[in-house]
Amino acid sequence: MSEENEAATAAPAAKKPRKRGPVIAAVVVAVAIIAGAGLWVWHEQPSFCAAICHVPMDPYLETYDEQADAPGTDKWMNEVSNTNAMLAVTHRVEGKTCMDCHVPTLAEQVSELGSWVSGDYVYPLVEADLNQLTEASGMDADEFCLKSGCHVTADGEALTTRAQLTEATADLAFNPHVAQHGERACSDCHKGHRASVMVCADCHNEAALPDGWITPDEQDQLIIR
Ligand code: HEC
Ligand code: HEC
Ligand code: HEC
Repeated sequence: MSEENEAATAAPAAKKPRKRGPVIAAVVVAVAIIAGAGLWVWHEQPSFCAAICHVPMDPYLETYDEQADAPGTDKWMNEVSNTNAMLAVTHRVEGKTCMDCHVPTLAEQVSELGSWVSGDYVYPLVEADLNQLTEASGMDADEFCLKSGCHVTADGEALTTRAQLTEATADLAFNPHVAQHGERACSDCHKGHRASVMVCADCHNEAALPDGWITPDEQDQLIIR
């Protein structure tokens, strides 16, 4: 229609041509940007993940939303005696969203969407290790979990190294961060959507379990569904 309009209005030389084409295009672009921005903002909200992917995402949103410092359940519906043992809960309390921990690439999101639409995924979802989770951020797992702006030392300084981390828990009777037998991945112990595991308790009876944490033996008893 804009072509017709332009042809009609451009013909009499005296009249100033009114070009609607660019205006319409600008409106279309503006609407697309606003809709896109809205979708992007919503997409960053925890509710988006579950609203869109319902079945596979629900348990993850549920663990995230659980009351902190109370009994709860993990992503497989196993009981957790204290929800503070799940990183998703303690990080939500600090105002973090799914996207603060999960940094998917656009390609991953498109492929996840494809899997969801076709129903082509295994459920329960396979547990990603921390390197897979942080790959798209361009940081390795340590850099990601210890990036500045997240954890702070007792003095209020940015806690960004394993040395500072070891220092931070030095007053525990058994310091879990001492790399006595070599460095361990943070995710060996700290879990996102299930109770964290005190791996040292396999051999060290003196290794205390923080509230809600479980031993490697108890981890083996978890029902995966
Ligand atoms: C504190 C960081 C953190 C937050 C916040 C968080 N997650 Fe996770 N998420 C993890 C970790 C760590 C794992 C892997 C280990 C596990 O499942 O316990 C994981 C695993 C997952 C998985 C399984 C597939 C995979 O990639 O391993 C899904 C799906 C998931 N999270 C969705 C969500 C959703 C949805 C939210 C927000 C409602 C969320 N997560 C919030 C850390 C987090
Ligand atoms: C061997 C198990 C284990 C490993 C591996 C581990 N942690 Fe921990 N971490 C713990 C335990 C246990 C606590 C004490 C938790 C509590 O009291 O709630 C803790 C506490 C923390 C705290 C809170 C410290 C404070 O100021 O109180 C942070 C932050 C932390 N860990 C980050 C990390 C990061 C990052 C990594 C990887 C570089 C890591 N942890 C590896 C077991 C572990
Ligand atoms: C497979 C069994 C095993 C696991 C798992 C294990 N340790 Fe040990 N650890 C030992 C043994 C055995 C010793 C004593 C050996 C020695 O004295 O040289 C020891 C000694 C230590 C010591 C020296 C002080 C002491 O208590 O004797 C520290 C510190 C330590 N471990 C920390 C850890 C931490 C932290 C973890 C978890 C990340 C862990 N260990 C996991 C078997 C284990």
